[in-house]
Amino acid sequence: MASVPSLASTVQQRLADALTATLPEAGSADPLLRRSDRADFQANGILALAKKLKGNPRELAAKVTDAISADDQADDLFDGIEVSGPGFLNITLTDRAIVRALAARAADDRLGVPLAPAPGTTVIDYAQPNVAKEMHVGHLRSAVIGDAMVRILEFTGEKVVRRHHIGDWGTQFGMLIQYLTEHPHELDHESGAEVSGEEAMSNLNRLYKASRALFDSDEEFKARSRDRVVALQSGDERTLALWQRFVDESKIYFYSVFDKLDMEIADPDVVGESGYNDMLEETCRILEETGVAVRSEGALCVFFDDVKGPDGNPVPLIVRKSNGGYGYAATDLSAIRDRVHHLGADTLLYVVDARQSLHFKMVFETARRAGWLNERTHAVQLAFGTVLGKDGKPFKTREGETVRLVDLLDEAVERAAAVVREKNEDLSEDEVAERAAQVGIGAIKYADLSTSASRDYKFDLDQMVSLNGDTSVYLQYAYARIRSILRKAGDARPAAHPELPLAPAERALGLHLDQFAEVLAEVAESYEPHKLAAYLYQLASHLTTFYAQCSVLGADTPEQRENRLFLCELTGRTLHQGMELLGIRTPERL
Ligand code: ARG
Repeated sequence: MASVPSLASTVQQRLADALTATLPEAGSADPLLRRSDRADFQANGILALAKKLKGNPRELAAKVTDAISADDQADDLFDGIEVSGPGFLNITLTDRAIVRALAARAADDRLGVPLAPAPGTTVIDYAQPNVAKEMHVGHLRSAVIGDAMVRILEFTGEKVVRRHHIGDWGTQFGMLIQYLTEHPHELDHESGAEVSGEEAMSNLNRLYKASRALFDSDEEFKARSRDRVVALQSGDERTLALWQRFVDESKIYFYSVFDKLDMEIADPDVVGESGYNDMLEETCRILEETGVAVRSEGALCVFFDDVKGPDGNPVPLIVRKSNGGYGYAATDLSAIRDRVHHLGADTLLYVVDARQSLHFKMVFETARRAGWLNERTHAVQLAFGTVLGKDGKPFKTREGETVRLVDLLDEAVERAAAVVREKNEDLSEDEVAERAAQVGIGAIKYADLSTSASRDYKFDLDQMVSLNGDTSVYLQYAYARIRSILRKAGDARPAAHPELPLAPAERALGLHLDQFAEVLAEVAESYEPHKLAAYLYQLASHLTTFYAQCSVLGADTPEQRENRLFLCELTGRTLHQGMELLGIRTPERL
């Protein structure tokens, strides 16, 4: 494992050193380096510095250029540095420097990506469906974005603890459990028979509908259901056992959906709302004793100066209702205590719908006042927008019902199968099915991950499985094409040849490849996986241009062929690694 500094960071360092050497009085000045169309990089920092020192920027820029050129004997990084405009530096690197940097990346398993210098522990709350309820597209977003963040953070060396905060508690269980008490065999399975996720969900739906109908029509059943809630909350054993059956049946369903999503969810990480029941009373006691929460109209509340209702009255966070019941907030506050004090979290990351932002704002502020969150331990909501239908309205079926997640996944895979079949007529049905799953599920994940999470996005399967444009299929296709070239290369092996001149498309591809580590660092820091998706899409686009302009197998010399194969191979590894971090497969053939 050897981390490889990016060319950008090497250039940046070299410029900063030259600035200090030329102008010791400048202290440590930032050369403000960025990629540029005119040259490889442009540095704009000299302007501000000259202004500060009341000097002439072009003269200063010329001095810095001289200092760098005098110093550049050792590894000939720079091909040219030109002063341009009012005092910018346009910087071009040598082809040698680019190929050497890429060779160093290729020699490393991690493509030269460094581990975080001071990794901590992040507890990430994602993929949190609700017991006895169908999963919908909102749950898809949390799962997909959360899974990508887990992978990305772990890759940087962060310790990640997953928490699937499933909705497994609440008054709605009174009705369900009461119904099951009165119809005891409704959730029985033939002994030893494997229940599918689909069956589990339809059992739960049937029970839900039947108990709801009874609840709405039969006052006595309603009363018995209410008593059942009390029994559940007071921990009555028989009631808890029945509740557990609903949880277990739901888990069969959840796991089948996650499996379809090609996602691993481990049982110990599923710690639902009920997991914090034992802490609720204490959480309330601490909040009240420290004065963070106060009694208001019988309820235990936390008030905020900046949270007011439409009537101008403050809207509190209710930690305990006036009837003594605990709600969503008490659970989340207890979960924070658990995650900070028992799991040792430095960061709490919540991948939750933006419509819950006010809730989390109040919960985090409460936890901060209580001292559970502080400068060392902080909480962030990675808030995501709403999934819209093609009509731009929240995604619903024609009948106005929420769309079943499974139906969407199945449809994506079906469409992908059509694409796969069309491209490869000689595949067996098993092969088609395997690839269609990788393509279809990848398409859904990529569509979600390639737009900024905070934005709403339109769920459009036609666009998602398209071979053209910013889709996972395009990226998977780019990867498969690389693999095919490497297979066809026969005896010719990829090898870096720094002594060869590079064509413009090779340089552009090479410089982009070199940015992988920097992009990942930014994505891990800002929790913005869409920037990784954008990077990968650009990478595939550079590859397309490179193919069009540079023949790989038909290169002029054996060395050039090896060098181009080397570029292909490194691009393939980078695509594969990047897609893996997004949770998307890259089949060898497509
Ligand atoms: N189960 C909730 C829902 O379906 C999401 C839970 C979010 N996590 C949390 N700690 N509150 O909307």
